[in-house]
Amino acid sequence: MPKPAMQPRPRPSSLVSQFAREVAAGLTKPGQKELPSKYLYDSVGSALFEVICELPEYGLTRSEERLLQLHAREIVDQLPRPVVVAELGSGTGRKTRLLLEALSRWQSTWYHPIEISPSALAVLRRELRDINSISIVGFEREYLDGLREVAVRRSPGEHLLVLFLGSNIGNFDGAAGSDFLRDLRLILQPGDLLLIGTDMLKPVQTLISAYDDPIGVTAAFNLNLLARINRELGADFNLQRFEHLAIFNEVTHSVEMRLRSRVRQKVAVSEASISVQFEKEETIWTESSHKYSQDELVSLAHHSGFRRQAQWMDQNWGFAENLWIAE
Ligand SMILES: C[S@@+](CC[C@H](N)C(=O)[O-])C[C@H]1O[C@@H](n2cnc3c(N)ncnc32)[C@H](O)[C@@H]1O
Repeated sequence: MPKPAMQPRPRPSSLVSQFAREVAAGLTKPGQKELPSKYLYDSVGSALFEVICELPEYGLTRSEERLLQLHAREIVDQLPRPVVVAELGSGTGRKTRLLLEALSRWQSTWYHPIEISPSALAVLRRELRDINSISIVGFEREYLDGLREVAVRRSPGEHLLVLFLGSNIGNFDGAAGSDFLRDLRLILQPGDLLLIGTDMLKPVQTLISAYDDPIGVTAAFNLNLLARINRELGADFNLQRFEHLAIFNEVTHSVEMRLRSRVRQKVAVSEASISVQFEKEETIWTESSHKYSQDELVSLAHHSGFRRQAQWMDQNWGFAENLWIAE
């Protein structure tokens, strides 16, 4: 793959106005108010997410790390060569190191993390730069915008391996998950691969503790979204007047993070030109984390244009690493 030029970031003012537009749309939506979960990850949110991964209650990251420690070589042995690696929502790439180190034993590899959080991308570049034979070119983009840029740069004969770790796919609600995977598949060529991590269904109390830890890190992560709107969009959210909530939706099999208004109140968001009324106990829906069953994974792969090639399961926590091949 030819070395791409530096990837320019979109102009900050256009990012601010997109943020303002999406905040306005979510907070003025009739019925359930909502905010897109991607905005949880500014530099504070990305740093708090790293702490969440260390919490005893949040077994998900350790579970996937165990799987990659045990099976990275086996996964790499199943890949066609030569292969270019793209990762959607890489975060700081801590787990990805295990795969890249295994890959570096048999080929020089381009690795393209695709992230909306510039601070996560900066940590990743610093942390992974020592891996031999791996060249990192990151894209500060949304998932599929970044993947399209990677796909157009591939050379003839190069295969693409897309990593989608950490059960990020679970942040898409209901049909949006399979719609997203279908769109992703359209960017790929037959024979390209997707390594997708999925958190499996488990007892509700385990799930709730994972998203509502006793020392309040996840609460801070969630509330930081309102603090970010104050910082970047000139809003006047009083954070003492909202509280973090994690509930399990038995119908959709998702843990939902919400922010509940403790009182009846009005909040202004100046950059979005809105003033929003909250009733006491009214909530803002900030993130869904869907939990999977095996049957669902079979149908998800099939309906999005992939064939399941292999699966590695960590029974200890209940997490699956799935290798799918584009048909
Ligand atoms: C739950 S973290 C997981 C990070 C990493 N994949 C892991 O397994 O530890 C989700 C990451 O995806 C990024 N992200 C969320 N929505 C995104 C989007 N629409 N486009 C690109 N990155 C996104 C966030 O900034 C964050 O770093």
